[in-house]
Amino acid sequence: MIENLSIMKLTDEDFEGAYEVIKTTIPYAFDLCHLDDDDEVKAMINEKRDLLKQSINKDEPIFFIAKHNDKVIGTISFAPCSEDIKICTNNEITDLGEMGGLYILPEYQGKGIGSTLINYLIAYLKKQGIEEVCLESGYKQAQPKWIRKFGEPYVIAKDYWAPGLDNMVWKYKI
Ligand SMILES: CC(C)(COP(=O)(O)OP(=O)(O)OC[C@H]1O[C@@H](n2cnc3c(N)ncnc32)[C@H](O)[C@@H]1OP(=O)(O)O)[C@@H](O)C(=O)NCCC(=O)NCCS
Repeated sequence: MIENLSIMKLTDEDFEGAYEVIKTTIPYAFDLCHLDDDDEVKAMINEKRDLLKQSINKDEPIFFIAKHNDKVIGTISFAPCSEDIKICTNNEITDLGEMGGLYILPEYQGKGIGSTLINYLIAYLKKQGIEEVCLESGYKQAQPKWIRKFGEPYVIAKDYWAPGLDNMVWKYKI
């Protein structure tokens, strides 16, 4: 684990840093999946930027950030579940909150920061009395990590994002 790591709620002061994490990490994740869709990347970055903005000074959606010294290096969110989760589960999941927005700057990946953010969010949600959450992932490089961490997916929507790119949805009891 790296030293001088701190986790906190996103504030106005760190908006640009968090946006930088998203702008860097989403294209990187798409490249790793050999997905070449600039429009989709742009749309996803814009959607996450709007969510970051909405979250400031509010309880929903919630964004927590990881900082190394003063630099924002990771994000995680909790928000109402996405339309994709509703579609992939045939509306069996509609009112569980979704853990998402998990992005770690490429040079900081694989050092336990994603897990630290997940543990922080889970502890926060537990204090709020939340007992279950859902999450989804279409990124091939992230899916084995979540299978190890959260078990077998509740649903695997085959070829949901593109041929060979499944969407996996998990339910996780806190
Ligand atoms: C996926 C991502 C968020 C993970 O964050 P990270 O800081 O790199 O991950 P960590 O080092 O905290 O490891 C997370 C877990 O995966 C496990 N893991 C790491 N590599 C693994 C592998 N090859 N196979 C299985 N599990 C693995 C770790 O052991 C850890 O679990 P643990 O805490 O129970 O031991 C990060 O790599 C990232 O931002 N990727 C690009 C964007 C993305 O895919 N986001 C996820 C959207 S769903």
